[in-house]
Amino acid sequence: MPQPRLRRLFPKPADSVDLIQAYAYPPGDTPWLRANMIASVDGAATLGGRAGALGNPTDQWLLGLLRALSDVIIAGAGTVVAERYGPARVRPEFAGLRGAAPEPRMAVVSRSLELDFGSAFFIGERRPLVITCEAAPEARREEAEKVAEVVVAGEHKVEPSRLVAELAKRGYRRLLCEGGPQLLGELAAADVLDELCVSISPLLVGGNAPRITNHPADEYRRPLRLVHLLIDDDELLYARYRRDTEDDE
Ligand SMILES: NC(=O)c1ccc[n+]([C@@H]2O[C@H](COP(=O)([O-])OP(=O)(O)OC[C@H]3O[C@@H](n4cnc5c(N)ncnc54)[C@H](OP(=O)(O)O)[C@@H]3O)[C@@H](O)[C@H]2O)c1
Repeated sequence: MPQPRLRRLFPKPADSVDLIQAYAYPPGDTPWLRANMIASVDGAATLGGRAGALGNPTDQWLLGLLRALSDVIIAGAGTVVAERYGPARVRPEFAGLRGAAPEPRMAVVSRSLELDFGSAFFIGERRPLVITCEAAPEARREEAEKVAEVVVAGEHKVEPSRLVAELAKRGYRRLLCEGGPQLLGELAAADVLDELCVSISPLLVGGNAPRITNHPADEYRRPLRLVHLLIDDDELLYARYRRDTEDDE
């Protein structure tokens, strides 16, 4: 698919946008954790149990671009199962962006390790990462080690700051989290998110789908700054936010 037409509404309206530049990770050596999610106008993170039903081909194209720009793609176990994740495959049109770098590494976050270790997620050329905690069942951990690199990043659950540190230790700096709501809720509650890209689909869907963050923690306040707002021909909006470091509340 050729680059879709996206117009910029903010900060400076423009009829065409260099999307590679618009979504470039900041330079430097510090890890940068970006999350990318989609929601309906009434805040649902799923329709019929999947995120894909909220999107369109442009949204999928952008997802492909964000993957191609990243070193590692992180998802919670719920998302890997519901969205039937396979190995990371960079679309041919984005291959040039990576130079000699291999495809991004896939990483799944799970405590129970109740994953299907024979599924497509575990059969790519690069062994995925399974990020778990000390409380994970030993037998499941042994199964995971046969098909993946197992990373322990917490005691009773994966601690978000340790997750980022473990990835950085392996040389991964451009981090992309694709959700789902529970994992994103953990990352937001722990205040480790540097950036949030949200696609807003022009739909009301009702139902009781989760919001894009789903976490039992007390309320918190994480100020964000809008970096840009784009719109496609189907009127999906693409907002890129980053952490507002100037707000000290
Ligand atoms: N709107 C969107 O952009 C979007 C994006 C992604 C997914 N989704 C949708 O969201 C739904 C899945 O939601 P979800 O909230 O269940 O997804 P999820 O966050 O991907 O998965 C939840 C699971 O991840 C593991 N997990 C999360 N945080 C953990 C932590 N700190 N430590 C250890 N394990 C942790 C646990 O796995 P174990 O149970 O194995 O321990 C947990 O049950 C699907 O319907 C999917 O289609 C929507």
